[in-house]
Amino acid sequence: MIKAQTKFGALIVITASMMVLSCKHEIPAPLDVELLRLAQDTSGQVFYHFSDTLLPRSAGSGHPQALLRTWYNPAAAAFLDSMGAVVPDTLFANGAAVVKELYASPGVLSLYAIMLKRSDHPNADQDGWVWAEVEPSGEVAIPSSDLGTACRGCHSQSGHIDFTLMNAYFP
Ligand code: HEC
Repeated sequence: MIKAQTKFGALIVITASMMVLSCKHEIPAPLDVELLRLAQDTSGQVFYHFSDTLLPRSAGSGHPQALLRTWYNPAAAAFLDSMGAVVPDTLFANGAAVVKELYASPGVLSLYAIMLKRSDHPNADQDGWVWAEVEPSGEVAIPSSDLGTACRGCHSQSGHIDFTLMNAYFP
């Protein structure tokens, strides 16, 4: 009896640790789930240059996908000019989100690259930006806990506006 219980206990421990291990790379951290929800919340979205047409990736694009389009949530769109480009010298306000949708081909959305301005966020960098890349499936490519390490270097190149690059590459 005792033996059977021990075996059963061991089985539970093994099953539980297998679940933890196998989920490690699949279940995103809650903060990244929030960012995915944000990227999928299209209410009030405003596209760069007011156009949802897919653009061919620029030479400087940090991603291999051929096509992209970028949009701004209402808090971020407040900083777009009459052409739908970012107003020069903008410092985005807290709550502003900019989402670059990356498409492998038309209709095949493969990744969201997300910038959220929220200086009180646990994963905000020193400039108040939270950075992440999440696939539509929920798979996290680059977690916000990386604090933009993979993003900031390129996004601080000359011509950036508060670390955003659409104006520089798609004037
Ligand atoms: C090698 C350079 C490079 C790296 C690294 C890079 N990006 Fe970008 N990113 C760009 C360029 C260039 C654009 C302008 C659109 C384009 O051509 O892709 C851009 C655009 C964006 C946009 C649209 C807003 C804007 O105007 O900049 C978001 C959001 C974004 N990137 C997120 C990220 C995140 C998150 C990371 C890191 C995980 C990252 N990027 C890493 C070059 C880079």
